[in-house]
Amino acid sequence: MSPASGSDYGFAVPYRFPVHFTRAAWEPGNPLVADVIRRLEPARRHRMLVVLDDHVARAQVGLASAIRRYCEAYGNSLELVSSPVLVPGGEACKNDLAHPFKLLELFNEIGLDRQSCVIVVGGGAVLDMVSFAAAIAHRGIRILRLPTTVLAQADSGIAVKNSVNLFGKKNFIGTFVPPFGVINDIAALTTLPHRDKVAGVSEAVKVALLKDPGFFGDLEMNSARLAAGDVDVLSFVVRRSAELHLGHICGNGDPFELGSARPLDFGHWAAHKLESMTSHRLRHGEAVAIGMALDLTYSVASGVLDRQTCARILRLLTAIGLPLWDDALLERTTDGELAVIRGLQEFREHLGGELHITLIGGIGRSFEVTEMDEVLVSNAIATMARRAAQPFARVSFGAAGGAA
Ligand SMILES: NC(=O)c1ccc[n+]([C@@H]2O[C@H](COP(=O)([O-])OP(=O)(O)OC[C@H]3O[C@@H](n4cnc5c(N)ncnc54)[C@H](O)[C@@H]3O)[C@@H](O)[C@H]2O)c1
Ligand SMILES: [Zn+2]
Repeated sequence: MSPASGSDYGFAVPYRFPVHFTRAAWEPGNPLVADVIRRLEPARRHRMLVVLDDHVARAQVGLASAIRRYCEAYGNSLELVSSPVLVPGGEACKNDLAHPFKLLELFNEIGLDRQSCVIVVGGGAVLDMVSFAAAIAHRGIRILRLPTTVLAQADSGIAVKNSVNLFGKKNFIGTFVPPFGVINDIAALTTLPHRDKVAGVSEAVKVALLKDPGFFGDLEMNSARLAAGDVDVLSFVVRRSAELHLGHICGNGDPFELGSARPLDFGHWAAHKLESMTSHRLRHGEAVAIGMALDLTYSVASGVLDRQTCARILRLLTAIGLPLWDDALLERTTDGELAVIRGLQEFREHLGGELHITLIGGIGRSFEVTEMDEVLVSNAIATMARRAAQPFARVSFGAAGGAA
């Protein structure tokens, strides 16, 4: 008889969630929010709690009242169980467990159950934190997201993961849970500060570089309007970026990232580290732009990317108004090591032991490496420092022969 016996068991769970694009989601004439919430059980009344990013609530005066009026107008289907709740906007809400904990207390007090719905309106940070709280309460309360930043509409808000930061590390705790639905209200972007309109475009550049050279060309053509924060162009960019991200999440066979590969995380190993190192002075999108600049410069130095393509991409990032440099790149640990390089180690831990870094060999051509040469990374940072010290045109890898 064999010393052990057993069998494999398994099941597959299909997930479906709608992602809509609209304008003025809280106008009573627009039934979309109600339709998304009641789509599975049209006959019953749905208990719901609305959580608002406080910066959005401040910038969009009257939003909470508009939501109340909306729920009254659809009173047959929607029951607002409390006044809309405010949470601090920005990364602060992910840096302190008190915020998700307060929400859990509230869910408990008002008796939300697994068939209730939490609606969250805000930037990517607030969406991550509130989605996390909803995911762990009763092992999962439905969450409807209305992202209000370019980055969240184009990338994080339509994604299937949520998290908060812990131990000074980005996204240290979180879960993989698809949203009940996502409604991208383009009109919500009008109050977004200019800095955030620009920062969010970096994820669109990223996904264009990974998946769609045509979209990269569109971004080049529209770079001046993107730099100006033109909401009409942003609306097109958000939509295409969201489609590309969703196509990847739903089509690549590993939506919950069980393997170590992280194909959408181009530029992110350094970005996450820079965000922590700068105590989030850098926006996620800005850190991603710098992280991509580092990986592109590294790729030229390691011979996998040609200088002209690298220069073309850096030109686009600059034309949009995204940063290619931050002095934090030069910070050293007490051992004298460049601190950002520790990001490789943290990325490896986050992935589960083996490093997988996505690089590009051309626009639309990504590939993975399982090692990064730390000497070449340091050299790449030195090159970037020289480039940052000069006017961009002189180091655009053109006739003047700037270093890669
Ligand atoms: N879950 C994922 O898959 C995923 C993917 C990418 C990024 N993220 C996370 O997303 C976060 C970044 O999100 P972000 O770029 O949206 O930044 P953010 O949420 O920090 O928002 C930026 C600022 O704008 C404010 N704001 C948001 N919408 C506004 C509006 N319409 N009008 C006025 N002010 C507004 C916010 O309160 C905040 O102060 C990071 O924490 C990042 O880790 C998550
Ligand atoms: Zn990102």
